[in-house]
Amino acid sequence: MHIWMIGSGYVGLTTGCMFAYLGHQVTLLDTDAEKIARLQAGEIPFHEKGLPEVFAAARKNMAFTCRWDDFSTGADVVMVAVGTPSRESGDVDLSYVHTVAREIGRRLIARHLPILLKSTVPIGTAKEVQAIIQQELDNREWPGSITVIANPEFLREGEALQDAFYPDRLIVGTDDGQCLSTVHQLYQPLLEQRFHPPAGVFRPVGYAAPALLVTNSATAEMIKYASNAFLAMKISFINEFANLADKVGADIIDVAKGIGLDKRIGPHFLQAGIGWGGSCFGKDTKAIVQLGKQHATPMQLIEATLAVNQQQRQKVLHLLMDELSDLHGRTIGILGLAFKPNTDDLRDAPALELIEQLAKYGARVKVFDPVAMETCQKLFPTLDVNYCDNVDALFDGTDAVILVTEWEQFRDLPFSRLGQYMTEKRVIDTRNFWDPARLRNAGFSYRGIGRGQLPRKERVLVTGGAGFIGSHLVDQLLAEG
Ligand code: UDX
Repeated sequence: MHIWMIGSGYVGLTTGCMFAYLGHQVTLLDTDAEKIARLQAGEIPFHEKGLPEVFAAARKNMAFTCRWDDFSTGADVVMVAVGTPSRESGDVDLSYVHTVAREIGRRLIARHLPILLKSTVPIGTAKEVQAIIQQELDNREWPGSITVIANPEFLREGEALQDAFYPDRLIVGTDDGQCLSTVHQLYQPLLEQRFHPPAGVFRPVGYAAPALLVTNSATAEMIKYASNAFLAMKISFINEFANLADKVGADIIDVAKGIGLDKRIGPHFLQAGIGWGGSCFGKDTKAIVQLGKQHATPMQLIEATLAVNQQQRQKVLHLLMDELSDLHGRTIGILGLAFKPNTDDLRDAPALELIEQLAKYGARVKVFDPVAMETCQKLFPTLDVNYCDNVDALFDGTDAVILVTEWEQFRDLPFSRLGQYMTEKRVIDTRNFWDPARLRNAGFSYRGIGRGQLPRKERVLVTGGAGFIGSHLVDQLLAEG
């Protein structure tokens, strides 16, 4: 099949490469000429694990353009994967989607064409896009027709290829059953799992094939928002419990394990930490809250999910203040900038907000990230931080190091050596990534999120009930006198 993919961001490029790898012809259109030039030169404009390799293998089936004038009518299907950013109010800015709809409507000369909407869009957008394109066709008195299908994606950055080749489900939202055979044909290799996965992409244990759910377009659009809102809510849920765990001497990691063993709850998305970031959860939860307001249906759980996430970022600052009292003139090392590992994406990255806060309190900030520093320098040229070349340089002369992104290469650091470089041996592990005992054995004061450790000033109140607060804490209290 010949696919026109409009938009070459994370979703458009990853999905486009996946379809090209599976043998379809993919033409990628993006009006960003620089991006297209880089793609034509064989370069991927962002960091995504495994994508350069899949791109190299799939390139023979791909073409690129930044000109709408090239828009071909020979396509079997068009996919729209342009950005849908948030406005200040939380509303979704659909201007890119609308522009694409008009451009398609002005040029289309096929008789009938399915248009798959991959972008995350407010409920009702597929119908709106259909009307815009139809209006353009009518203006030209062109007798062709189109069907806009809501076909959301569920890719996680850093694991996007894994999710693209082995999705849990395919959601197809259309009120027109006619074009379903085209959609089937398009996804046939995935539905039948007829392909050899690219290097680095693995068939999950027990995986058979994706479930296919065909429904109406509003339902498909809601499924995407509800999925992201639910995942965000799970994280805020465990973070709220983590904060309580710190007060009562419980360990949130075992709490998550314990509740996750219940099949009705499941073990995923229960890692307490600094809260979620990234381009999707914040944008989509805000959009759902706005939609609820428009329909006089307050989305109270989602509002709380957002509020808890915001507080969680502040909590890390409070932990640091509890350790150091005054941040003025202190040197703080931030380990990891990206909103999660295996990506250089800094959108809504908790590290950036933390850096801003630290600067406000007069701290000097050093940073190290294995991949995202270049992006950070490019996007935020005025950010007042000292970029370090490696982990050693980051620890050198710091009063505390805060782990913000759990890159795998940070797991087994030579803590004893690194501690010697520090002014004070303090770490705040905002991802509960490190083994507290290992850090404490290396002489560090370790603070995680919800690991049953009370703030310094409150600790004295519970030492009488030592059994209650866990033996590792008792050991530490004794060590600290
Ligand atoms: C998310 C959805 O998972 C994906 O299905 C959708 O298509 C886009 O949004 P993404 O934002 O790429 O994907 O990353 P994800 O792995 O979901 O993580 C989002 C944020 O939540 C990250 O900041 C991550 O660190 C945080 N997180 C995740 C937690 O704090 N705890 C967890 O248990 C899981």
